[in-house]
Amino acid sequence: MDTSKAIGIIVNNPEFADVRSLEGVAPTKQHAVFTIAVPTTAGTAAEVTINYVITDVEKKRKFVCVDVNDIPEVAVVDPEMMYSMPKPLTAATGMDALTHAIEGYITKGHCTISDMFHLEAIHLIAKNLRAAVENDKAGREGMALGQYIAGMGFSNVGLGIVHSMAHGLSALYDTPHGVACAILLPLGLEYNMPVAGERYRAIGRAMEVPYIDSMNDEDAAKATIAAVKKLGHDVGIPADLKEIVKDEDVQFLSESAFADACCPGNPRDTSVEEIAALYRSLM
Ligand SMILES: NC(=O)c1ccc[n+]([C@@H]2O[C@H](COP(=O)([O-])OP(=O)(O)OC[C@H]3O[C@@H](n4cnc5c(N)ncnc54)[C@H](O)[C@@H]3O)[C@@H](O)[C@H]2O)c1
Ligand SMILES: [Fe+2]
Repeated sequence: MDTSKAIGIIVNNPEFADVRSLEGVAPTKQHAVFTIAVPTTAGTAAEVTINYVITDVEKKRKFVCVDVNDIPEVAVVDPEMMYSMPKPLTAATGMDALTHAIEGYITKGHCTISDMFHLEAIHLIAKNLRAAVENDKAGREGMALGQYIAGMGFSNVGLGIVHSMAHGLSALYDTPHGVACAILLPLGLEYNMPVAGERYRAIGRAMEVPYIDSMNDEDAAKATIAAVKKLGHDVGIPADLKEIVKDEDVQFLSESAFADACCPGNPRDTSVEEIAALYRSLM
């Protein structure tokens, strides 16, 4: 879907023939060619977002393009298209959707309307991802809806450091996008706790964490992070980056993450050095 979006934009805006010129918010003038988007995974929500992500294989980096002209005219979100996904793909893409909903909920630009989408998406994903991994019909339906609703939210407000840091892992090591997001999500929540922690209780409530409303703020935030970790663990996501990241790449990865279009949306202002320390904490 992302490739189609880029092609659709370039066909109608040939002055951007080099896709690299579209990074960030691109000043295209024409809407992309008429596009019908049919997701076959329950994750990216690219069928409804204003984003597409491209891998620059020469520079070994992924970059995000943000352009209202790329939204497909029609989205066909049919859970039957997702039945054939193997378990690891279902898990990874589902955790990508959870990351969209959670990062979108705590991002700097969040607002009442995006909060509504994100909390409902978190609820649907937490409730249905385990069943979807087992190819349960209701689970697949809940995930198709949950990922889509998350897209309705984050496309309007942005994401954060988890996506910034995840992009480099896919560009350098071919780590599936959802796996990279899922490994980094609990770490991102811990890092953002000093500035966004008071919003974690609502995330935990949406995930149906027991007794969340009788906890103090700190315990509620920690219980929420634990629930996110447990969901990732239950669907088979690795707990750390030990098998993925090489020490000599940390500086390049951190610089790429800091320059990533998702980084400014992170609730806590960050730096290349702090991002490097975050990568290293999981190695
Ligand atoms: N546009 C956005 O807003 C947005 C948001 C998040 C991520 N992304 C990007 O989306 C990309 C990841 O997309 P994805 O997670 O959907 O995976 P994908 O499209 O890369 O597919 C992963 C693999 O799964 C296979 N596959 C897809 N559907 C299948 C099915 N139903 N049954 C069996 N196999 C199937 C594909 O052929 C492919 O080999 C990344 O590049 C990521 O950066 C975009
Ligand atoms: Fe994503």
